Amino acid sequence: MSTDWSRIADKIIRKEKKVAARSRGKIPYTAAGHVFDDKSDKKDICWWTNGFYGGMMWQLYHATGNELFRECAEKLEVKMDAAFMDYNGMDHDAGFRWLPTAVANYRLSGSKESKNRGLLAAASLAGRFNLKGNFIRAWNDWGDDRDTTGWAIIDCMMNLPLLYWASDVLKDPRFKDIAVAHADTAMEWFIREDGSVRHIVGFDPVTGEFDREYGGQGYGEGSSWTRGQTWALYGFTLSFIHTGDEHYLETAMQVADRFCSRIPEDGLIPVDFDQPAEPHYIDSTAAAIASCGLLTLEKELKEKDLSKAAAYRAAAEKMLSVLDEKDCDYDPEHDELLTRCSASYHDKDHEFPIIYGDYYYIEAIWKLTDKELFIW
Ligand code: GLY
Repeated sequence: MSTDWSRIADKIIRKEKKVAARSRGKIPYTAAGHVFDDKSDKKDICWWTNGFYGGMMWQLYHATGNELFRECAEKLEVKMDAAFMDYNGMDHDAGFRWLPTAVANYRLSGSKESKNRGLLAAASLAGRFNLKGNFIRAWNDWGDDRDTTGWAIIDCMMNLPLLYWASDVLKDPRFKDIAVAHADTAMEWFIREDGSVRHIVGFDPVTGEFDREYGGQGYGEGSSWTRGQTWALYGFTLSFIHTGDEHYLETAMQVADRFCSRIPEDGLIPVDFDQPAEPHYIDSTAAAIASCGLLTLEKELKEKDLSKAAAYRAAAEKMLSVLDEKDCDYDPEHDELLTRCSASYHDKDHEFPIIYGDYYYIEAIWKLTDKELFIW
């Protein structure tokens, strides 16, 4: 029996109206006892996921016109201004923070303040570019013995659209040139021959030469952290959309083919495709992000390669219907939507609600029901 995506969209809207009414002013990351936490405090305001609830609110506002969603999104965007005052907190995830918030607002309303926030974020991201190595530095140092000066991570592919947007708005190629240089470096050093993807690559920050790979949030060096695979799949697709460069499309397809070949029979995505059989940790965020990437690829390939387009759609539909049946909490009295998300393989906790799982699940369902606001 085929899944009724419109019915799922209706269930999400019904639930999220109730959740938004009791979450005004919050910046959620996870939920405990079915109640969202709040990352609004000064110490948490730079947390990399702080834009996702804002993005959910804009997607819901775009689909319904309900002012409650706009109010929640606007409150969150203003609160995040405090992050601009914390240099150390301003890492490469400027795209994750301000594309689904300020830039989404600007796209819908033309707000001058939102445009200003988006451009400040883009300038901060561009300032992280390492000229010798042609990569964007991921994180600032954490105050321990790890030196992250030369580290780039695959997740950054999803931050590049902030630079493409800034070049468009300013009619200034500098931002796009940095995005392209980073994407080319990622294509060379992160994508393995079999289409699997590294999480962290370290370069010599002075000479720019490749140093080594790190296991990062996956099982270990050489493994395939599933969310990292999805950042590459969706990220290279977006670089193709923003530049028209077919190399990025080919790379996205290479990663997509490898990902699709490893989707387990039951459709539930593990934290790492190479993790041991036990313990078997699931990460539903990877299923949701991969679905968004595959559905975007499907759209791009409709004119070029019908059978690939159909295969990518089928893989996305399989993962999304499994999420709907086995992993979604549609109870309007519970704040979270997806329940089995995992941040990192070696963390103590696994399979709990994480806000970007909810965001990408909604984005994927919106793609299937023609409700999407283009965020990236
Ligand atoms: N960007 C970090 C993550 O995917 O967990």
